[in-house]
Amino acid sequence: MNPMFKALVVGSLLLLSSFMSAGSVLAADLTDDEVYWLTYMREEEKLARDVYLFLYDTWGSPIFSKISASEQTHMAAIKTLLDRFGLPDPAAGKEAGEFSAPELQALYDDLIAQGGVSLVEALKVGVFIEETDIEDLNDAKASTNRKAIKTVYSNLLQGSLNHLKAFVSKLAKQGIVYEP
Ligand SMILES: [Fe+2]
Repeated sequence: MNPMFKALVVGSLLLLSSFMSAGSVLAADLTDDEVYWLTYMREEEKLARDVYLFLYDTWGSPIFSKISASEQTHMAAIKTLLDRFGLPDPAAGKEAGEFSAPELQALYDDLIAQGGVSLVEALKVGVFIEETDIEDLNDAKASTNRKAIKTVYSNLLQGSLNHLKAFVSKLAKQGIVYEP
């Protein structure tokens, strides 16, 4: 083989293998726990977004539209991971208020019923969603050693802590002292 050509072939193979080791972790390489949590969190973030959209339509309080927009970015962050690992998106083709996971569908239905009662109940729904999210994100984070996944969960956790603080302080303005 012509040495120049050989060098070129070896170089290309090295380049190819470095691409593959950097970016080709596929669904089959993930643990069942990792797959479960990525799939579940995609819809749990959707639940937050959809409930807050409903509560904004109902009560017109800007806290709900603002935090709903943030949940949209959380959904997108998980979608990026699903795509990266070649996992199906449970939220594909689902309208606001529609979920693949039956437990999230039931939870959504309960939360919009409670949040429709009064603004105070709606804010309590916000506290409940963020506390649940924080608990689940901690479990999700503990389910993986992959840095790319852990980083996303950590960012989402920070967001949820901020949302929780915002709902608690809005409740305080309504004269309700929050007890964890
Ligand atoms: Fe949140």
